[in-house]
Amino acid sequence: MNVKLCEQYLAPFFGEEELAPYLARAAEARRQLAEGDCPGREFLGWQHLPETIDPAEVERILAAAEQIRRESDVLIVVGIGGSYLGAHAAIEFLQGPLHRLEPGAFQVFFAGCDLCGGQLEELIRLCETKRVSLNVISKSGTTTEPAMAFRVLRQWMEKRYGAEETARRIWCTTDREKGVLRQMARREGYGSFVVPGDIGGRYSVLSAVGLLPMAAAGIDIRRVLAGAAAACRELEDAGPHNPACRYAAIRNLLYGRGRKVELFASYEPRFAVMGEWLKQLFGESEGKEGRGIFPASATFSTDLHSLGQYLQEGTRQVFETVFWFERGAGEWTVPRDEEDLDGLGFLAGRTFRQVAWQALQGTMLSHTEGGTPNLLFTLPDMGEESLGSLIYFLELACAVSGLVLGVNPFDQPGVEGYKANMFALLGRPGYEERRAQLLKRL
Ligand code: PA5
Repeated sequence: MNVKLCEQYLAPFFGEEELAPYLARAAEARRQLAEGDCPGREFLGWQHLPETIDPAEVERILAAAEQIRRESDVLIVVGIGGSYLGAHAAIEFLQGPLHRLEPGAFQVFFAGCDLCGGQLEELIRLCETKRVSLNVISKSGTTTEPAMAFRVLRQWMEKRYGAEETARRIWCTTDREKGVLRQMARREGYGSFVVPGDIGGRYSVLSAVGLLPMAAAGIDIRRVLAGAAAACRELEDAGPHNPACRYAAIRNLLYGRGRKVELFASYEPRFAVMGEWLKQLFGESEGKEGRGIFPASATFSTDLHSLGQYLQEGTRQVFETVFWFERGAGEWTVPRDEEDLDGLGFLAGRTFRQVAWQALQGTMLSHTEGGTPNLLFTLPDMGEESLGSLIYFLELACAVSGLVLGVNPFDQPGVEGYKANMFALLGRPGYEERRAQLLKRL
């Protein structure tokens, strides 16, 4: 298994016998998932997706990506939540945050994931001199943020390219039958892909939702899928050594002991957007019915100079889940310097990764001593297979953990609240009564 769970830093906080009841519940949850016998059973399509995805679908994605790269310099991905975070996280994990600034690099930008007109304007200005394709992703086809951005970008493209050429440059990823986007795709003749009906947004990164933007970015999606498929096979077992079950059990044990916040951290800036994806995956899956661990994320050692103080000595409500990669892009070494004015001679000849590893160990020991439990995941590298395995591992762990917690990990009823208020305040037809009530409260 590419993803290894290291529990050595947890020893001061609990013993195996205390974990046992949680492990039993995690094993039961694993069995329920395998048998499709759990709340949210209609959204289990992600479970075998890496193994069952139709090779013809992968071919279509690769062909579309090839066309996009041939005819464009930029792909704008329009989507929000589960419809963009996985792709964004994967691209940044594999290529790094600075990749798109390299001269001649194919660029993937994201839009429709906020309500900021300024950002959209900036993006359009940036793309004015570039050849552009667009992938709009929305399972429901009705989400406000991407719909607004899509309206602006579509009109901008139509002015620039004309209707026919724009239609060639727009790709829709949406429900097979339902929703406005599907209707538009049919009417306008956009190329299209399907968000499988049995896969919710935050579990959809290994479907066309994530795979098309990844392939357009130049990522070898077959390798990502191969890593995920290997994890899928290796994590079938519901026994106590299944690391996804152990992780789910540990989270629930710590939560029961007042650890209400989980900080996902890594020493790789490339992992930062994975932290955003993790927040969405766990936050939307578990935060309901007055329960759930609050997911947060950080990049170390950067954030050790801000959050480090809190982790060491603040309210004892946090546990840390740290991801470490044995190998990564670039192995820069601290150079020798005869004068040694900065006193760093003791680091000369060591790679930044070697220094980071000592920082990790030192931090874990120190935070553990301060009373903050630390879990460590190690992966061999930051390649496509490792990413695929990690994504699958985390999806499964999240599903198991949510079931152990006693919630449906596949719905998100609470997300509708803000939307209903926003529509009412904006005067959307059908929301008159709510509007009147809200205006009294403002
Ligand atoms: O995980 C989820 O289901 C959500 O985060 C959705 O992905 C998000 O709300 C976007 O929804 P849609 O794809 O319908 O536009």
